[in-house]
Amino acid sequence: MLTPGLEFGDNGHLYVEGCDTIALAQKYGTPLYVMNENLIRRNCKRYTSFISENFNKGSFPCYASKALSCLEIYRIMAEEKMGVDVVSGGELYTALKAEFPAERIFFHGNNKTYDELKMAVECGVGRIIVDNLTELHNLQKIATEAHKYVKIGLRIKPGIEAHTHDYIRTGQIDSKFGFSIENGEAMQAVKEALLCENLELCQLHCHIGSQIFDTQPFCDATKVMLEFFVTIHKETGLWIKELNLGGGLGASYTDTDSPLEIEEYLTPVAKTLKDVCDEFRIPEPEFHIEPGRSIVGEAGTTLYTLGNVKEIKGIRTYISVDGGMSDNIRYALYKAEYTVLNASKSQGETIDNATLAGKCCESGDLIQENISIVNPEVGDIIAVLTTGAYNYSMASNYNRILRPAMVMVKDGRSRVVIQRESYEDLLNNDI
Ligand code: LLP
Repeated sequence: MLTPGLEFGDNGHLYVEGCDTIALAQKYGTPLYVMNENLIRRNCKRYTSFISENFNKGSFPCYASKALSCLEIYRIMAEEKMGVDVVSGGELYTALKAEFPAERIFFHGNNKTYDELKMAVECGVGRIIVDNLTELHNLQKIATEAHKYVKIGLRIKPGIEAHTHDYIRTGQIDSKFGFSIENGEAMQAVKEALLCENLELCQLHCHIGSQIFDTQPFCDATKVMLEFFVTIHKETGLWIKELNLGGGLGASYTDTDSPLEIEEYLTPVAKTLKDVCDEFRIPEPEFHIEPGRSIVGEAGTTLYTLGNVKEIKGIRTYISVDGGMSDNIRYALYKAEYTVLNASKSQGETIDNATLAGKCCESGDLIQENISIVNPEVGDIIAVLTTGAYNYSMASNYNRILRPAMVMVKDGRSRVVIQRESYEDLLNNDI
């Protein structure tokens, strides 16, 4: 499987958007995150244009920046007229430093600190999605003291939980996020929010899962949420103005993944929203979603240099590279699948039963097991595909390994957007 923008050239090298990955590795060093800027922008445009054409005025998608947060991604999102979702003071700070417009930032999190809430109120984020009653009361206090009116949403558990290939519709009360509809918490939160004079309740939000390949759970969540809009109106007289369905559309990691196209996923959701609004005679709400993985996932490729090949006869061959769980923890954490290629050669004898291992001092530091790869030799550049989401953002300095650099490639040109860490960087906070 090759992700969009990838192809092998006549010289046998892997190319990303017209850039030879071997040349990129030579120029910038490895490990290296390579991001396809055209693909990121194209994905944003598909979301923004579908949403502006098919949903109510005022609707827009917010990029879930937990997937990849750095100054340049917020600049791109601003240029593409996206909103963004942030989940910490750190993500908010980065977005503001990139001059991302505060009113298009939605602030999430199940345990926002008092200081984070103050920061969000002071800079005037567009919405704070309140997770719990303590937060609601803290926010009212902060808003009163700052003489501000703050627009809020509530994080709701709709009782739908989706995984890649299936989903369940049950009471899903047992989650650390948000207020459950079925046990009355959500209605209590609505009523308490209405008592908070400096808070304006505009939005109900839910997030049903990630790496989802089916549109039905999103349609079901839309219905459950809109039914709750009706209940709220009956009990309080308030019409909620905005529905936010969170993120979740999947990306393709291997041949066996077949995620929906953005339009295929949203068309039935738009229809469900219209049908349910007609049926219940509800004013159509503004619509928001928060895609992360489906915007940046397939746009990322990680390049490593192969350092040694260790064949354990009759068992497997370990091929070890100069990164590992420090730049991609997803296999260690979730057994996440990836496509691995020898970027230095498209042809040659293929070995099976290889394990791509990292350099961390831990046997679980593997990037992928049971792979087939073309003749791996020391010095080859190894590419791992679909590493744009939740790789850099989950990277660490475990074993004091330096976090890699990131380059954006576009139309055959490349530029650094995150510098490689240096040994001095490691000592920044040491005293
Ligand atoms: N909105 C909310 C409130 C979320 O919690 C998330 C993801 C998103 C949006 C974006 O979801 P996406 O479109 O990217 O699926 N570290 C895991 C993924 C955790 C996702 C958590 N929330 C991984 O590497 O697979």
